[in-house]
Amino acid sequence: PSVRREFFHFQVSQKNTIFAVSKFIMSELIKEIERRKTFGIISHPDAGKTTLTEKLLLFGGAIQEAGAVKSNKIKKGATSDFMEIERQRGISVATSVLAFEYKNHKINILDTPGHKDFAEDTYRTLTAVDSVIVVIDVAKGVEEQTEKLVKVCRMRNIPMLVFINKLDREGKDAFDLLDEVEQKLGLTVVPLSLPIGMGGDFQGIYNIWENNIQLFLEEKKQKVGEAIKFDDINDPKIDEIIGAKAASNLREELELVQSVYPEFNREDYLNGDLQPVFFGSALNNFGVRELLDAFIEIAPKPQPKESDTRLVEPEEKQFTGFIFKIHANMDPKHRDRLAFVKIVSGTFKRNENYLLVRENKKMKFSSPNAFFADKKEVVDESFPGDIVGLHDTGNFRIGDTLTGGEKISFKGVPSFSPEHFRYINNDDPLKAKQLAKGIDQLMDEGVAQLFTLEMNNRKIIGTVGALQYEVIQYRLEHEYGAKCNYEPLSIHKACWIEADEKSEEFKEFARLKQRFMAKDKYGQPVFLADSSFTIHMTQEKFPNVKLHFISEFKNAQ
Ligand code: G4P
Repeated sequence: PSVRREFFHFQVSQKNTIFAVSKFIMSELIKEIERRKTFGIISHPDAGKTTLTEKLLLFGGAIQEAGAVKSNKIKKGATSDFMEIERQRGISVATSVLAFEYKNHKINILDTPGHKDFAEDTYRTLTAVDSVIVVIDVAKGVEEQTEKLVKVCRMRNIPMLVFINKLDREGKDAFDLLDEVEQKLGLTVVPLSLPIGMGGDFQGIYNIWENNIQLFLEEKKQKVGEAIKFDDINDPKIDEIIGAKAASNLREELELVQSVYPEFNREDYLNGDLQPVFFGSALNNFGVRELLDAFIEIAPKPQPKESDTRLVEPEEKQFTGFIFKIHANMDPKHRDRLAFVKIVSGTFKRNENYLLVRENKKMKFSSPNAFFADKKEVVDESFPGDIVGLHDTGNFRIGDTLTGGEKISFKGVPSFSPEHFRYINNDDPLKAKQLAKGIDQLMDEGVAQLFTLEMNNRKIIGTVGALQYEVIQYRLEHEYGAKCNYEPLSIHKACWIEADEKSEEFKEFARLKQRFMAKDKYGQPVFLADSSFTIHMTQEKFPNVKLHFISEFKNAQ
């Protein structure tokens, strides 16, 4: 019995050790989650996204000098310059994820292309961020691309911070601009800083969040004055520093802020109901530290994510993640691709077996990449909020879920209806196979969308911008050895169909619209409408055939 007793004690102590170790691992995981912030910067091209990114990285010590972050903008007039496209692709790999440490926070910035032809890429990236910063040019105000992107963020209730940039230039009045942001973007703003003067008279920023003044020393451009703290806005010292007139203006404006705008409330911000606004000048490194300091304090940590069966919490032990971006290798001789996975829960480990749920396939990754501002390197472990790059030989699709074994699929990497449609034809009958493979892989990457007409199996490529057609043609030739040409097609929108396919109503609809019935890449039925009038008429005539402009309508939030 004593041996048995000893064995029992041994078992208990072993259990306790395992329990203690797993508790330790859990608390490590929780610590890592708590210190992570994963976000994207969105703006209309030229508002200052690249400049702001660079300044944030400078604060984090991730880069040493300005100019280190390359803009992934496509220069005007570069539409048919393929070197430019290749350069752009190279840069967009390099800047896909920029990670840095700041005040013990691990910050992951996910790059979003500003060019409207790549909007789809941006929409997908927005499924992987936990919050965004919206950059607005003080002179131009709210521009088209910002409106579109903010709309997507609002649909998903993504917490947003607004940064009004280029205060060193003459621009719109701060309050007019706040009104414009509210009206055009449908946001509820609360200014957390206020500019003192503007353009030539720009003196600095009153930081409402921290209750202090930062002065802008123009003669020493890029050099920022030490913050001067005030407990009382009526402190006569403020008059001395910025002048009596500016001081009284500031007091009036602060009063206005207090009476007109709601008080900042973090919960409302996190729910997407309230958007704090900061003013500054990214180029002059002014107001950027304030933005960053407030950001790390209020921005959300990695968030839970809805799957087809349940909500997955980041703190869960099991690793789960999803693919939001696939990038083909720049070297056409190597066909491997890099799939970007956002980790939703648990710890991702190198050389561990994971399940690619769609294929029910176990996979192991020997060299997962983590991304930093200036390099990417192989990592052993990554945590929720992080992005890992996995080498892929053609297994992955955008939207795929990877798990530690559980069969769940994450929702929400939808396709939006393309804006342009063209038939794609094979230009070299001997290379039909290569063409099919090339189209297949480029579509997996999300370069464009493929539709197949039901009546004759002709293939149609749908894109957001005309530029994609040239990219596809060029890449098919250089990476797959296939040649294609396009034929114009007058389609207004792709509408994903939700209907009872056995109903008489659907059958009648399908018969009448036979010429326009297609399948998307995943076999979902799509109606290719030739005008908005057609959509309107169809909806009236067939009320039970629902038309959606987004592929994941069942999961749309
Ligand atoms: P983007 O990524 O949003 O497209 O914009 P980006 O940062 O490339 O900035 C667009 C232009 O605006 C750049 O000038 C940049 O220097 C300028 N800019 C950014 N922030 C500020 C600011 O706070 N004040 C002022 N006055 N200008 C700012 P560029 O001439 O187009 O390019 P570059 O030759 O200076 O790089």
